[in-house]
Amino acid sequence: MSDIKWTSEQLSAIKEHGKNILVAAAAGSGKTAVLVERIINKIIENKIDIDKMLVVTFTKAAASEMREKILDAIYKKIEEEPDNMHLQRQINLIAKASICTIDAFCLDIVKNNFFEIRYFSKS
Ligand SMILES: Nc1ncnc2c1ncn2[C@@H]1O[C@H](COP(=O)(O)OP(=O)(O)OP(=O)(O)O)[C@@H](O)[C@H]1O
Ligand SMILES: [Mg+2]
Repeated sequence: MSDIKWTSEQLSAIKEHGKNILVAAAAGSGKTAVLVERIINKIIENKIDIDKMLVVTFTKAAASEMREKILDAIYKKIEEEPDNMHLQRQINLIAKASICTIDAFCLDIVKNNFFEIRYFSKS
């Protein structure tokens, strides 16, 4: 990922923080690559662990693709910084990271908090 020469618009989507952002761009223009780089940037610059982030997709295929791409990007960064323990820790943490479909995420919330749901209406 790091060998890509990002456009200025891509760079702002990667670096922008402290506000909600929406990225809309043409098919194949680099949305997924930008999102992966944004995540890697948060791991490296803000020292945020991957299991403290929520990455949701619409399909299971997209979720596994995203997990694979993030892992690849972490490995690439480790090649550049082999002594970076924080980066190395992400390899283990990614196994329990919330990189899933929005359906799986919502189901998890219900399963883990079912005791809070006092009333259940069938209608
Ligand atoms: N600035 C750039 N320079 C060169 N290559 C780039 C750049 N941005 C993205 N790419 C490359 O373009 C290809 C397509 O990117 P990506 O899959 O992220 O696009 P996408 O918008 O998510 O596509 P889709 O709409 O199909 O989901 C990837 O190989 C990515 O590495
Ligand atoms: Mg994509």
